[in-house]
Amino acid sequence: MKALEPLTLTDKAQSDEDKVLQEKVKSSGTLPQHIAIIMDGNGRWAKDKGNVRLFGHKAGVESVRDITESCAQLGVKHLTLYAFSTENWDRPSAEVSGLMNLLVHSLQNEADRLQRNNIRLVSIGQLDRLPKKCQNKLQEVIELTKNNTRLELCLALSYSGRWDIIEAIKKVSKEVQNGNVNPDEIDDNMVSSYLSTADIPDPDLIIRTSGEYRISNFLLWQLAYSELYVTQTFWPDFRRDELYKAIFSYQKRDRRYGKVKNGYTKRLSASVINKIIS
Ligand code: IPE
Ligand code: IPE
Ligand code: MG
Repeated sequence: MKALEPLTLTDKAQSDEDKVLQEKVKSSGTLPQHIAIIMDGNGRWAKDKGNVRLFGHKAGVESVRDITESCAQLGVKHLTLYAFSTENWDRPSAEVSGLMNLLVHSLQNEADRLQRNNIRLVSIGQLDRLPKKCQNKLQEVIELTKNNTRLELCLALSYSGRWDIIEAIKKVSKEVQNGNVNPDEIDDNMVSSYLSTADIPDPDLIIRTSGEYRISNFLLWQLAYSELYVTQTFWPDFRRDELYKAIFSYQKRDRRYGKVKNGYTKRLSASVINKIIS
């Protein structure tokens, strides 16, 4: 097995070609305000190359950097990355500890860069389950970047959508018990305000890499009306050009939210309605 090379902190200048592409993305339609990504396929990527899974996770960090910075350059305001699920704790302990070490290492290496790029880091999930060194490093970078305004990068760590909903239910129940909330007042907005994403708008676009058509316990409540984009590409190969493809696809979608497209309805008289349904 090859040794893991240290992650490098190289600031590559944005190419002229990329600047042109980004202008095209920005001018061809509405930009999603919030993009959420299920970063999947690291293990298969490594396996295809005859390597152990951890190589895939390490290569995935390069994609995180490229996608984060391209979102910041485009003007996307929120990027949520599913980095580790509650269920991922049940993977072999060597993989879990490799991932936790990689997290500490990456946060350490990327902190300056996040700061220089005016990117704010936040995190959602059962963070108290993370090893202490991860919790500390995470808090350190969150604190360092807390006043940054260009893009909010949210890492979902030890996260599950059901956990998020259960926590919200517990909090609302306590408010009901204390007499602060009347159960009849509970509505969409109130539930949203008790979730870990309370300060973040729901994702406009959700991307899953590696060709799997499932949500895997990600933002179950928040994805109600998100546009889905699935690509066969494994996460370590998912770079900005693929992101632009996903945004172009999003810009062609017709988001109807259960309603009928404007100008598409004809007024029907009661007698016509009766004729159609009888
Ligand atoms: C996604 O890649 C990263 C995590 C879930 C931590 P996987 O590790 O799931 O890679 P595959 O899906 O097995 O290829
Ligand atoms: C989802 O990927 C979790 C993350 C990307 C962090 P998984 O690889 O864990 O999901 P399944 O097992 O394919 O559903
Ligand atoms: Mg997977």
